[in-house]
Formats: sequence, structure tokens, C-alpha cells
Amino acid sequence: MRPVALVTGAGVRLGNAIARDLSRHGYTVVAHYRSHPPRGLGGALQADLAQPDGPAALAAAFGRTHRRLDLLVNSAAAFDALPLEETDAAAFDSQMDLNARAPLLLSRALLPLLRRARGSIVNVADVGGGLVPWRGFAAYAASKAALVRLTECLALELAPEIRVNAVAPGTVLWPETYPERLRRTLTARIPLGRAGTPADVAAAVRFLAGAPFVTGAVLPVDGGRHLSGRA
Ligand SMILES: NC(=O)c1ccc[n+]([C@@H]2O[C@H](COP(=O)([O-])OP(=O)(O)OC[C@H]3O[C@@H](n4cnc5c(N)ncnc54)[C@H](OP(=O)(O)O)[C@@H]3O)[C@@H](O)[C@H]2O)c1
Repeated sequence: MRPVALVTGAGVRLGNAIARDLSRHGYTVVAHYRSHPPRGLGGALQADLAQPDGPAALAAAFGRTHRRLDLLVNSAAAFDALPLEETDAAAFDSQMDLNARAPLLLSRALLPLLRRARGSIVNVADVGGGLVPWRGFAAYAASKAALVRLTECLALELAPEIRVNAVAPGTVLWPETYPERLRRTLTARIPLGRAGTPADVAAAVRFLAGAPFVTGAVLPVDGGRHLSGRA
């Protein structure tokens, strides 16, 4: 029987690459999206995960068509560059709600199906915030740091039935607004001398999903960027 994976934020960019990679490697993939349905991945489910009841609604929709879940990948996130002066309560909450609370609530809502399959969860964190502090991104960084700690706490709480790990990508796909000069500056901080590719991250997700003695790991996929400190 093919293992079943649910990937959030799978309509575009990195989440889409992870979903397609899993599909190519033998998983039946259920793709989640909010506003961009994925092309070429059937049976996609729509949900706004920033809403308090969004994760439970997605889990319920998934449960109507699937009786097991081998892998949950929490990739959907918001990435807002905000200096402190612009970080009011709503701005802070919007990062935390989607980037940290939604993975927690979705994991919780899917526990019975994950337990039944002795499945695993892979959270998509970020080297920025998840592993090193980032100037000008306090709310985003705090949300990814929270996701890293949630990964570790849930790994303890859900063992031995369910493994919980995270990848912490560095620069992979640039925000479209980043000019060429900024891209060169940021690339120069990466010890391996290049930005990552979606395939680099997808391979790490697949590794963690298939590593039966690994739980609570936060795997940097950043060309060594976390070694060169804060930005
Ligand atoms: N890009 C990078 O280089 C990089 C580096 C480090 C870490 N990461 C992490 O990798 C993941 C994917 O990054 P990305 O750059 O590919 O993301 P992105 O282009 O910013 O896309 C965001 C994703 O989150 C979904 N999303 C946004 N708001 C949502 C909501 N309220 N409810 C449900 N889904 C929502 C979007 O769905 P719709 O488009 O359907 O609305 C989309 O799939 C994120 O966790 C990010 O933090 C990315």
C-alpha cells in the first residue's frame, strides 16, 4: 500500500516541490492550498490555516477520504519582513497563528490517523529565526523558533508512535521583491556558495520521513548558513 502524505501550502513554490517529490517517490499525496490550487496533484483540499478552526476543518476534510496518514508536512507559512515599529499585535499574531499555531493544531487534529499508521510529521522551519536570530524579522523569527521548539516537544510527547522532525531551509527561493544585488550579498554568506534548490529541501523532508530512528531533529538545509551567525 502506498504511504499517504498531506502537505500544507502545496500549491506553489517550496510546498509544491515537496509534494511533487513525494508523489514521484511513491507517496499518495494530498495537497493543501489556500488560494493557489496545485496543478497536477489531484484531490487538493482548501483551508485557511490562519483561522483558529482552519486546521481542524482541513483534518476533517482529509479524514472524509483517507483512513490513514503516514506523513504530515507543515509547509504553509507567512513571511513578513517587519521592523519593530511596525510589529503591532495583529502583525505578531498573524505570523504566530499560521507559522506556529496551525502546525500544532493540525498535528493535534490528525493524531488518530497518524497513530494508526505510526506516521511522522515534518515541519518546515527556517534557518532564519529557527536557528539564528534575524534583524528586522522579529515576529517571523519568533514564529519559526516556536515551530522548532514545538517540533522538539511533540517529538517527546508523541513518541514512540509518531516521529516529529523539522527541516530548517536557508535561502532557497528568493522573495520576488529581492533585487539582484541583495541576492548576491546574501549568497555570499552561504559557506557552500550557492542558494539551495527546492529539490535540496524536498530530499531532506523525504529523508526525515523515512528515518525510523530519528525524532526531534531539526535539520539545517542551508549550505552551512547557520554556521555564519545572525544577519
Ligand atoms: N523560500 C525559501 O527560500 C524558504 C527559506 C526558508 C524557509 N522557507 C519555508 O518554506 C515554506 C514554504 O516557503 P515558500 O517561500 O515556498 O512559501 P511562499 O511562497 O511564501 O508561500 C506560502 C505558502 O503558504 C500558504 N499560505 C499562506 N497563507 C495561508 C493561510 N492563511 N492558510 C493556509 N495556507 C496559507 C500559501 O498558500 P496559497 O498560495 O495557496 O495561498 C503558500 O502555499 C515556509 O514554511 C517557509 O517559511 C522557505
